[in-house]
Amino acid sequence: MPVHADQKSAAVPSFTCENLQVTLVGAAGANVILDGIDLTVARGEFVSVLGPSGSGKTTLLRVLGGLQEKSGGTVRSADAPVEGPPADVVTVFQDYSHSLLPWRSVRRNVALGIESKLTKPECAERVAEALTMVGLQESADEYPWRLSGGMQQRVQIARALAMRPSVLLMDEPFGALDAMTKASLQDQLQRVQELTGTTVVFVTHDIEEAVYLSHRVLVLEGRPAHVGLDLAIGLPSPRDQITTKESPEYLALRHRVYEAMGHGKRHA
Ligand SMILES: Nc1ncnc2c1ncn2[C@@H]1O[C@H](COP(=O)(O)OP(=O)(O)OP(=O)(O)O)[C@@H](O)[C@H]1O
Ligand SMILES: [Mg+2]
Repeated sequence: MPVHADQKSAAVPSFTCENLQVTLVGAAGANVILDGIDLTVARGEFVSVLGPSGSGKTTLLRVLGGLQEKSGGTVRSADAPVEGPPADVVTVFQDYSHSLLPWRSVRRNVALGIESKLTKPECAERVAEALTMVGLQESADEYPWRLSGGMQQRVQIARALAMRPSVLLMDEPFGALDAMTKASLQDQLQRVQELTGTTVVFVTHDIEEAVYLSHRVLVLEGRPAHVGLDLAIGLPSPRDQITTKESPEYLALRHRVYEAMGHGKRHA
């Protein structure tokens, strides 16, 4: 299978935020949600973002994806300022049920982002490849409403992969799934990420999931939020749901993140 990672210099980071500030207007007026965020995400890196509910994880993802304006500092994607959604950055949201079109087959849902840009044979090839990556090649002619929740989420992920993005921004993509489906999708995502070298920024509430999947875990803390913990996860790959999670290194890292999350809550 082809390697999707973009061909630009590996030395250019995927994202750089310097002293990023984001202010949102609520019922009580303007709120500074994120402040003093300094962050560099390398190409091909898998970075998870944790933090208490309401701390600003989705907001940070939206800023990286060019869907939310900042109020201060800088955000750069592939060394260019982010002003609107960057072309090769794709966002996967938690709520798959609203992102799939019920009147289109799985194959045609996966084609949505590329059908106007490629010839029919190219598009068919990309769709087949993406469906194979997420193990849904047998369901290409089904309709989304006939699939389980986990399968529908895989369709959304296949659609993102078919676009061959340099960067996947994922907001709690497995949050609504049962434990077994979640574990299986974690392993599929991990495999695809290694194969394609796609940069992934992954928002989750699940500490185990973050440590298991990532090269790096960030914990947002405080109000306004800043990066309270930036922890390298040096676990060997490929990872395994049983042996990795039993290793002393995994348990020590999980411990560090739990402590950081507790600290975040006390100061929330
Ligand atoms: N569109 C909006 N307008 C005004 N305030 C908002 C908006 N969206 C979010 N907020 C506020 O910004 C803060 C951060 O919200 P955000 O959705 O980024 O948090 P989160 O960390 O993703 O939370 P969760 O874990 O519950 O998804 C919250 O205090 C929220 O009330
Ligand atoms: Mg959120």
